[in-house]
Amino acid sequence: MTMRVGVPIRALSLLCVCNYQTYQSTFSDASVEVRQFNNLFLIFLLVCGVMYLLVIGFLTAAIIRRRRAGPADVAEDGRHHESDPLMRAILIGWAALIGVGLVGLAIASFFGDRSMARAASDPKLSITLTANQWWWDVNYGSADDSKALRTANELHLPVGVPVRIFLKSNDVIHSFWVPSLAGKEDLIPGRVNDITITPQRIGTYRGQCAEFCGAQHAHMALTIDVESDADFIKWWRHQLQAAPAPATPLAQAGYDFVTSRNCSACHAIAGTPANGTVGPDLTHFASRRTIAAGTMPMSEGNLYGWVADPQSLKPGNHMPTIGLEPDQLHSVVAYLETLK
Ligand code: CUA
Repeated sequence: MTMRVGVPIRALSLLCVCNYQTYQSTFSDASVEVRQFNNLFLIFLLVCGVMYLLVIGFLTAAIIRRRRAGPADVAEDGRHHESDPLMRAILIGWAALIGVGLVGLAIASFFGDRSMARAASDPKLSITLTANQWWWDVNYGSADDSKALRTANELHLPVGVPVRIFLKSNDVIHSFWVPSLAGKEDLIPGRVNDITITPQRIGTYRGQCAEFCGAQHAHMALTIDVESDADFIKWWRHQLQAAPAPATPLAQAGYDFVTSRNCSACHAIAGTPANGTVGPDLTHFASRRTIAAGTMPMSEGNLYGWVADPQSLKPGNHMPTIGLEPDQLHSVVAYLETLK
């Protein structure tokens, strides 16, 4: 079924401007859940499409028939409908078709839902994703506390493994949406929702907050790397390591500033005195693809701009513009760049 349905889905995806594999596309086949959604979508599209064409067909036939008939026939016509066997057969057939179509759609929905629920019942990994205005706090759970880790604005998932993601919010309602991998699910303050994803294709995908959550809603993206088991374990092990000690005098000056001044009140860097929790964890900050939840790519220039004046780049975000002196700015950026 998946194989047969996959071809038209891919043909449809070619109509999108986006690259269905690596960007944001609901026509992807990158996870078990999205394949199920797409199969269901195609079944609904076909059934509703056939119904629509039949309605238009009958309507057109009726118009043509009336046009051809003279005014006398038209007056007669209304009287014999009930007794016309052809008309009765058409009406009964039409009612039966509608009934069969609706029951068929209900059955297709039921099986699609069951199959997604089966995948969700046996997750092998659990992640807690907490939304904040306007970034994602990511916590990988583990029975062994020394293997639990915290990062921000990116998820790494092993291919072929069902992952349950628990969704929370610290402030307002946000919505988790990675179109290539899963449907939407809201993150609501005071409650925990969850969604299960079983990625099937190695690649990088983009997610976006899909619920208007304030001025920087558009700058609340996250990247999802689906990796082989070996790459995922390598990433996990690397994330568990503490930040490297600064190796140059400039980076040392940055370390001193970050760990003893304003920065450490909000940010944590494992292995240093910085242990704030209200902002993103920075232990492996420089290994991420973007700065400020997808606002800009990770690069030295963007890092300078962000540290110097975060309020002009993402107005309203909770990181204040401190007003660093040039030498402080150089040292802080030099230190942050070591956090690979
Ligand atoms: Cu968070 Cu929109």
